[in-house]
Amino acid sequence: MKKHTFRKHKLEGTDKMENAIVMKNVCKDFKILNRHEGLKGSIRDLFSRDYKTISAVKDVSLEIARGEIIGYLGPNGAGKSTTIKMMTGVLEPTSGEIMVNGLVPYKERTKNSERIGVVFGQRSQLWWSLPLIESFRLLRDIYMVPKKDYEEMLELYRSLVDIEPILHKPVRQMSLGQRTLSDILAAFLHNPAIVFLDEPTIGLDVSMKAKIRSLIQGLNAEKNTTVILTTHDMGDVDALCKRIVIIDEGKKIYDNDIEHLKSYFGSYRTLRIRHADDTWEERVIDETKEDVMDVIMKKQKEQKIKDIQLQEISTEEVIKKIYENSAASKESAAVSDVAEKKEEATV
Ligand SMILES: Nc1ncnc2c1ncn2[C@@H]1O[C@H](COP(=O)(O)OP(=O)(O)OP(=O)(O)O)[C@@H](O)[C@H]1O
Ligand SMILES: [Mg+2]
Repeated sequence: MKKHTFRKHKLEGTDKMENAIVMKNVCKDFKILNRHEGLKGSIRDLFSRDYKTISAVKDVSLEIARGEIIGYLGPNGAGKSTTIKMMTGVLEPTSGEIMVNGLVPYKERTKNSERIGVVFGQRSQLWWSLPLIESFRLLRDIYMVPKKDYEEMLELYRSLVDIEPILHKPVRQMSLGQRTLSDILAAFLHNPAIVFLDEPTIGLDVSMKAKIRSLIQGLNAEKNTTVILTTHDMGDVDALCKRIVIIDEGKKIYDNDIEHLKSYFGSYRTLRIRHADDTWEERVIDETKEDVMDVIMKKQKEQKIKDIQLQEISTEEVIKKIYENSAASKESAAVSDVAEKKEEATV
């Protein structure tokens, strides 16, 4: 009994000391109105009690250590943003426990927001018509960042990226890449323990993506900031994340090292072929099984090829493959289950 109490105490202590985020069996349901079509339907909806429940997050347990960069992946509607909203305190879980920086986010939302930073893809959090440096000063005052820490942070920014061209520019005059860069710098300014980045490289060109990735990497390394990154870009994941969590239909379906994932998918590429009529054909190739050049040559014999591209496999394709693998292993488990039962019956 005594031993049990000690272990429990130690576990709680560990959660607070080493983990930035702990989720235990977290679920989130949304109750939404069943909408009916047409004018009659809309009027009916006004008085309707016809609700249905959507389970956006289903029994997700997760521990994220300080300083980790996690790739939080999943197809559209998987529940990524809902999870992040629970972590930031915007939403309350329907059931389960969630601790962020040792706080229950929805109960201590203000306190929690002092220790986190957030960047949402194409939506800037900055003051549109203010030069960036003015936004920085406002954020410094809002978060009560000591002057010395603020100056040090600006110095760190200068060492990681060329901020001079954007510092005196109003956000509305910036390119998408400059705006994203500014948003990331703003999110880190008060030195939060955790930063949530929702699709930070969406719509950016290759060189800007590289700049953003190395900035995130540099800030994480210097400040030991925990980073939760959602992205559909496997290049982001490859450059930044040691660990990957994948959710689909609200359920966690994968949580492991990137190396583990690569051992499955490192050899997969997407081959894109442009035909004479300008239509693109896409095909995922496993280079351990097929030679890309062979595939191209074979195609060329069949029809004229105008252009080819070879790309990294996308996160969606990786997820699809994980599913295929797990479905296959479930199938074989079911087969062996049946075989075992048969054996038992015969014994
Ligand atoms: N406020 C809400 N009310 C009702 N349903 C919601 C609400 N927010 C999200 N949902 C539903 O919950 C599910 C998960 O949505 P969520 O936004 O978390 O997905 P996501 O993984 O962030 O997707 P995406 O990649 O498209 O951003 C979806 O079915 C969505 O329609
Ligand atoms: Mg989302």
